[in-house]
Amino acid sequence: MKHLSHTLILLPLLLWAGCGDSDTASASGAWVWNLPDTVPPPRVPEDNPMSEAKVELGRFLFYDTKLSGNQTQSCGSCHRQELAFTDGLAQAEGSTGEIHPRSSMSVANAGYAASLTWANPAVVRLEEQALVPMFGEDPVELGMTNMEAELLRRLREVERYSAMFAEAFPNQADPINLDSITKAIASFQRALTSFNSKHDRGSSALTLSEQRGKALFFGGTTEAGVPDALECFHCHGGFLLSQAVDHDGSEFNQQTFINNGLYNLDADGSYPEGNQGLFDITNDPADKGKFKPPSLRNIAVTAPYMHDGSIATLEEVVDHYARGGRMIESGPNAGDGFDNPNKSSFLNGFEITEQEKQDLIAFLRTLTDEELLTNPAFSDPFAQ
Ligand code: HEC
Ligand code: HEC
Repeated sequence: MKHLSHTLILLPLLLWAGCGDSDTASASGAWVWNLPDTVPPPRVPEDNPMSEAKVELGRFLFYDTKLSGNQTQSCGSCHRQELAFTDGLAQAEGSTGEIHPRSSMSVANAGYAASLTWANPAVVRLEEQALVPMFGEDPVELGMTNMEAELLRRLREVERYSAMFAEAFPNQADPINLDSITKAIASFQRALTSFNSKHDRGSSALTLSEQRGKALFFGGTTEAGVPDALECFHCHGGFLLSQAVDHDGSEFNQQTFINNGLYNLDADGSYPEGNQGLFDITNDPADKGKFKPPSLRNIAVTAPYMHDGSIATLEEVVDHYARGGRMIESGPNAGDGFDNPNKSSFLNGFEITEQEKQDLIAFLRTLTDEELLTNPAFSDPFAQ
């Protein structure tokens, strides 16, 4: 029944698109989501509807080094397309050389994040998040603090931008302003959807090894005879492969922050100073080490892993979960993450054979969407 009504609603639209002037939709700049049936569109704020012109303007701004104080960096410096919009570094490096405490995150599918960044429940709109790398001082990323007027001056000097802003924001007399800059960048990021991996083509597209890895990931029984031993899907499930998902029409707040046992300084659950996740916002000791479980889409190209890039490879990630937490023998971060009092009760370790480990990693590699990494619509327009 559900299916039927869906078809009935779609049918007139398809007919309408099929006959008459097929240029109407693109000429008006109406946005068409290119998504599989199983994936709902992202939530789009009412004050920032999608349009082709806005997404294209957002692409230029995302890659424009005029957005950094010393004009050396753009968003794209830390969010590189070929690395699924990450940077390959353990910790990001800002335009003035300052090292960020955390690792750059993929902005593919950022429109679906229940909260943005590694552990801040207050950052939920892409429009607002963009202000952090631009104007933030702790740490310095693009380094534009107090330079808003200078930024607008730089953009107004570029002829192409006058036309692009006017087209993207047709109802504004003077569209080159900070509000429209952040709106355009947000729209570009909402357009960065990524659901065209081998995994999305269904189990029949997978090799036997990948299929076995998929079964283990989603709760299958290990050779040691334990069903659901790996638990991966509990936190990295659903269409986003993250539990912390939001989309158009979703009614529940799916924000979640979890401690996965990376550290246990002083055996009291502490993580390294200044990088304690949700605790840095709430100051509640029970929140030490709690971070957003990221989407595992494109995970094979986004190494190194975790909020601080402290795990280099997928093999080591699996070892980490198999042990149920990381043991650091000596040094300032010494401690056994297995015993972290804030660790999720799902993470107790498991027995895994070498073959099972390879199968699981083979499955994780099927989550790469080559189209995302090469699509010219998402690429750096200044590099051509
Ligand atoms: C110096 C490197 C750097 C630059 C430049 C940079 N970012 Fe980031 N980005 C990061 C890091 C690091 C994080 C994680 C931040 C945290 O958790 O505190 C991040 C996180 C994000 C996220 C959150 C993704 C998610 O799934 O939660 C978005 C969105 C984002 N950046 C967009 C942008 C935009 C837009 C720009 C340009 C205006 C930009 N970034 C510039 C390094 C950078
Ligand atoms: C109880 C929830 C939970 C379970 C179960 C879980 N994870 Fe995670 N995962 C997380 C959290 C939270 C993070 C981020 C932690 C951090 O950075 O401090 C994470 C991070 C990761 C990362 C790094 C992501 C990145 O972008 O750097 C990978 C890879 C990963 N998990 C794979 C797995 C696999 C494979 C399994 C099953 C063996 C699994 N996870 C089980 C919660 C979970």
